[in-house]
Amino acid sequence: MRLWGGRFAGESDERMAAFTRSIEIDAALALDDIEGSIAHVRALRRAGLVTAGDEERLVAGLADLRAEVEAGALAWDPTLEDVHLNLEAALAERIGPVAGRLHTGRSRNDQVATDLRLWLRRAVVRLDAALLDMEDALVTVAERHPDAVLPGATHIQPAQPVLLAHHLLAYVEMLERDRGRFADAWRRADRSPLGSGAIAGAGYPLDREASARELGLAGPTANSMDATSDRDFVVEAIAAAALAMVHLSRLAEEIAWWSNPRFGFVRLADAFSTGSSMMPNKKNPDPAELVRGRTGRVIGDLAGSLAMLKGLPLAYQRDLQEDKPALFDALGTLEASLGVMAGLVASLSVDESRMRAAAAEGHTTATAVADAIVRLGVPFRTAHHVVGRLVAEADRRGSTLADLPDDAYAGALGADADPTAAELALRPSIGAELRAAAGIDAALASCDVVGGTAPVRVAAALVSARERIEAERATAGRAPGSRATAEEPTFEKPPSGQPTSG
Ligand code: ARG
Repeated sequence: MRLWGGRFAGESDERMAAFTRSIEIDAALALDDIEGSIAHVRALRRAGLVTAGDEERLVAGLADLRAEVEAGALAWDPTLEDVHLNLEAALAERIGPVAGRLHTGRSRNDQVATDLRLWLRRAVVRLDAALLDMEDALVTVAERHPDAVLPGATHIQPAQPVLLAHHLLAYVEMLERDRGRFADAWRRADRSPLGSGAIAGAGYPLDREASARELGLAGPTANSMDATSDRDFVVEAIAAAALAMVHLSRLAEEIAWWSNPRFGFVRLADAFSTGSSMMPNKKNPDPAELVRGRTGRVIGDLAGSLAMLKGLPLAYQRDLQEDKPALFDALGTLEASLGVMAGLVASLSVDESRMRAAAAEGHTTATAVADAIVRLGVPFRTAHHVVGRLVAEADRRGSTLADLPDDAYAGALGADADPTAAELALRPSIGAELRAAAGIDAALASCDVVGGTAPVRVAAALVSARERIEAERATAGRAPGSRATAEEPTFEKPPSGQPTSG
């Protein structure tokens, strides 16, 4: 018999039942649903709605169900629509009619909103660790190759030499912001909808503060209509996942190019590349390509959830059930992508000499030469023109800036109307000075500002990134964003019945 049997006479249409059913998807909420139910039972007992004996029987039954779910032993009945109805029915099978008291003052609307927040917390803790592992992989490669130089590009054209470590640390910055976004999303999700009922609030004096505490949540939600229909926390988490995927996708794109033999900057480990069924010569960056491809799907998850929400009047509407496929897909795809990209990056072999040779192409030290001329008293705009002439001259000779003779330097300065440039042209050592500035290492060293690619700056950035990663690992499993505070509960496991306070 259906749970709403009293009002309904006939059978459900098969097609309707199949269409509305969500157990295939929301079975993933089972552990969270059980934790929510245990917290609710305690609230019922506190309000005098169940006896101490009933509380004991209900909690013991729910704990047994949890063990069955953890063991993968609970069989889901598709005729029971969703995880909530399945668990309630399974509980009744095990402990009898007292199970009928569980749903007092509760609706699936506040129930599913609570479950999803608890699920999100577990997922965010795992994602935070996976983001940290990805940062670790990037920092590890940077530490292995602290002196490797890349041809830094803007507009995909040779721009200025940069350290490979600097380039990799740019992705560490992105991933740190991703961690911050997940922590932030979690902070707003950290409320308990339990006691909101279907729309208007439970019809019993439930201690909502206590059941929030029971679940390790910061407190109860403030408005029952909002609580049962709000999915902002779902959108925020998917948005954070979409942006993190975009970051991984950009890295994937770069690695695909770098591993092309024409670049030859890196070689993928056999374990993280694939061959061709037809072309024996191929070694393909398929995992990187799939990360790039799946980023499209996660962006779709975000667009889809926003579109799902935009036409919903208050309060709960069944459309909201569509939150879960998008959330589970987005966060699951990100977690898997982080795992494969961390492995792929950590196992890259880097060809430092190919990179350095490429970094010298395209007159990438031209800006450094212009800066050196400015340091000798010439206005930057004049120096830019002078070096422009030097670049043209180097191209005519098929030479690099660092190989131009003295007279080429003197000529380029002397050709300028600016008196400071003309004067510098007469300086006997000018050719040697500017050739020195045109070397790759001199160009790197000159970018000695906070956030610049000068080796001293990058070395310091690398040390502090490593220190931070190790320090954060020591607090892994805590709610993200709360690592600094020692009293925060740990979430390695879903919190059990007792208030979590240490
Ligand atoms: N499966 C539903 C969901 O995910 C649970 C809530 C159903 N509530 C209802 N009144 N039909 O949204």
